Amino acid sequence: MADDGARGLEAVLAAEADEIERAAEAALRPRRLAEFVGQRVVRDQLSLVLDAAVARRRPPDHVLLSGPPGLGKTTLAMIIAGEVGAALRLTSGPAITHAGDLAAILSSLQENDVLFIDEIHRLARPAEEMLYLAMEDFRVDVVVGKGAGATAIPLSLPPFTVVGATTRAGLLPAPLRDRFGFTGHMDFYEVEDLERVLSRSARLLGIPLEEEAGHEIAGRSRGTPRIANRLLRRVQDWAQVRGTGVADVAAAHAALTVFEVDPRGLDRLDRAVLRTLCTRFAGGPVGLTSIAMAIGEEPETVETVAEPFLLREGFLSRTPRGRVATPAAWEHLGLPVPDSGPSRLFD
Ligand SMILES: Nc1ncnc2c1ncn2[C@@H]1O[C@H](COP(=O)(O)OP(=O)(O)O)[C@@H](O)[C@H]1O
Ligand SMILES: [Mg+2]
Repeated sequence: MADDGARGLEAVLAAEADEIERAAEAALRPRRLAEFVGQRVVRDQLSLVLDAAVARRRPPDHVLLSGPPGLGKTTLAMIIAGEVGAALRLTSGPAITHAGDLAAILSSLQENDVLFIDEIHRLARPAEEMLYLAMEDFRVDVVVGKGAGATAIPLSLPPFTVVGATTRAGLLPAPLRDRFGFTGHMDFYEVEDLERVLSRSARLLGIPLEEEAGHEIAGRSRGTPRIANRLLRRVQDWAQVRGTGVADVAAAHAALTVFEVDPRGLDRLDRAVLRTLCTRFAGGPVGLTSIAMAIGEEPETVETVAEPFLLREGFLSRTPRGRVATPAAWEHLGLPVPDSGPSRLFD
């Protein structure tokens, strides 16, 4: 039981889902664009791109989706394939360790397939080059033989669509970025949108969710549907085991307390970053790597998971000399704002 608790906690806070969470997520994924809540700008743009492709009877342009974890990039990739009636092939940057892996995937593509490449910024350089040639010319060079006798045989590919997802669009080299006809920038969700995500999920999970409880959970979900859904499932656990079976405000509060989600939705990682920045580095400026090392996390995790939300909420700012805590950060942690604060920090 104790183990379960620990796993549940990690699952709520983790950026990446484990097996159980993945299955739960799959069950809650919207299948069509019309079911996809919020992100109006990206949804409108995408709907235009897809409708045009369908009207022309051609596969849509390559699409790049960028934004923090849990905002719906994978969901949108699946929706794209669904909307144009194409088969979806899934892979990811880290899964492709050699250019040969990518050549094998590319040469097996069927006409109109959607190839989803998650974490595309983590593709190795040779694979990246092979990919943008394939995206542009629908051609891949398959190397046959080894050493001096090796020859590259050009193979032409049927028309297909690449959907790339990245938490760090800035890391994509320009030649690759330029091959995407459309880039959707996903942003954190408004509370009202998350309330809609939650009521949809509650319906699918078969749990009665009171409006006020939905509002409370939505407000503490870091603008992120994945987190909203996970919190809902923890509220459901609490309601069924200790409550009345209804996801009401009491259940929401109890579950949010158990899982250490604070009133502004900050989780343990967010608070660790802020606390380290304020207490250990006197509010900064300090480099991202120093913060990450001090809390025993990967710099990439701090940068892609915690930082975008802390920036948006105004707890942190980025300066050329490093990360700086804002007065709101000290206040949120219940610490006195240093006198030399804002003037020194923002000079
Ligand atoms: N706009 C949305 N409407 C409803 N549910 C969403 C939406 N975006 C994301 N979700 C839910 O959040 C979960 C995480 O989304 P996912 O597409 O895996 O995020 P990402 O790939 O950006 O990390 C999915 O299970 C999905 O159910
Ligand atoms: Mg994803």
